[in-house]
Amino acid sequence: MRVLVTGYLGYVGPAVVAAFQNAGHHVIGFDNGYFEDCVDPLEPQPVPDGDIRRDVRDVGPGDVTDVDAIVHLAGLSNDPLGELAPALTPDINHAATLRLAALAKAAGCPRFVFASSCSLYGAAADCASPLEETAPLRPVSAYAQSKAACERDLGALADDRFSPVFLRFATAFGASPRMRFDLVLNNLVAWARTTGEIRVLSDGTPWRPLVHIKDMAQAMLRAATAPRDIVHARPFNIGRDDNNLTVADLARLVQNQVPGTHIAITGENGSDPRSYRVDFRRAHRELPDFRPEWTVEMGCEEVDRWIRARELTADDFQSHRFIRLKHLQFLQEQGRVGADLRLCAAPALAGAPR
Ligand SMILES: NC(=O)c1ccc[n+]([C@@H]2O[C@H](COP(=O)([O-])OP(=O)(O)OC[C@H]3O[C@@H](n4cnc5c(N)ncnc54)[C@H](O)[C@@H]3O)[C@@H](O)[C@H]2O)c1
Repeated sequence: MRVLVTGYLGYVGPAVVAAFQNAGHHVIGFDNGYFEDCVDPLEPQPVPDGDIRRDVRDVGPGDVTDVDAIVHLAGLSNDPLGELAPALTPDINHAATLRLAALAKAAGCPRFVFASSCSLYGAAADCASPLEETAPLRPVSAYAQSKAACERDLGALADDRFSPVFLRFATAFGASPRMRFDLVLNNLVAWARTTGEIRVLSDGTPWRPLVHIKDMAQAMLRAATAPRDIVHARPFNIGRDDNNLTVADLARLVQNQVPGTHIAITGENGSDPRSYRVDFRRAHRELPDFRPEWTVEMGCEEVDRWIRARELTADDFQSHRFIRLKHLQFLQEQGRVGADLRLCAAPALAGAPR
């Protein structure tokens, strides 16, 4: 199978490229390269079989010819990025997704795997019972709203030749060649290991379901290859039921991983309206061979090992290399990203051969 993986130069993308290649598929990567320089020197990322370097807003028909499946990860990938240029978030995350899907459908590509998010459940009024895919959507951010709008409008493109499938991922964790420390598990482990203090900026009560990036990649592989009637225009929550934790519970697990550390629940970010427990049984039941393997404890151990192997400091993990919002702001300050959030062509070096 020939698979186009958009957003392959991000945090999750390398695990997706590896999962498809290991299963024998031909992978074409597509990305504009915002985080190109954020790669880890100790762990180079897998190289796709083809590479398209373009903004997803500029995708053209030639990018989707002879493709059997598209896995669409590219976009502004969290709430803070969605607020950086609020007028552009719908263009990048929604309009460009719809354009990509329409082009894919016109070119005869039968399967479109969309990286959605459990954050579209938003402010779940009652966390007593976990949310199934039929629960009402209450997105509380521009980012989450863009995911909900994509699911709605991709669903309208579904027909007997084109099957979109919506994978609603829990919050990711784990070691990647393009590491992020703006994700709750990775962030708390980094605080613990580099300062001895586990800093929880909320009041610790919000529920956060978590999922390892390799389990996300496995879900995308299964969704791309499953029989059509299982996935056609359907959402699947992706995670493990036992990885539904409150942030305070997670802090205690991190403390077990890094003994001698102190938990500080600062509450400085106020109460967080995003809180949801999620029921992950549909994907386990119905996505053929999907078996998510990574517990939170395994993730804490892996991320801690990653940090120790690189002797990361507190300044390091809070730098733009690992925080998506800071990196886009850094690129803007350097003039490498314009007000339209497009990457500018690199300036020609004086005297360099043309
Ligand atoms: N990380 C999570 O916890 C999580 C949870 C749920 C859903 N998701 C979704 O999974 C996807 C991947 O997440 P991630 O953590 O790897 O994010 P990331 O920010 O690390 O990677 C996103 C990638 O998309 C690319 N991209 C962004 N805008 C682009 C544009 N206009 N044109 C072309 N490429 C563009 C970036 O260069 C980057 O390589 C995102 O769609 C995200 O919303 C992630």
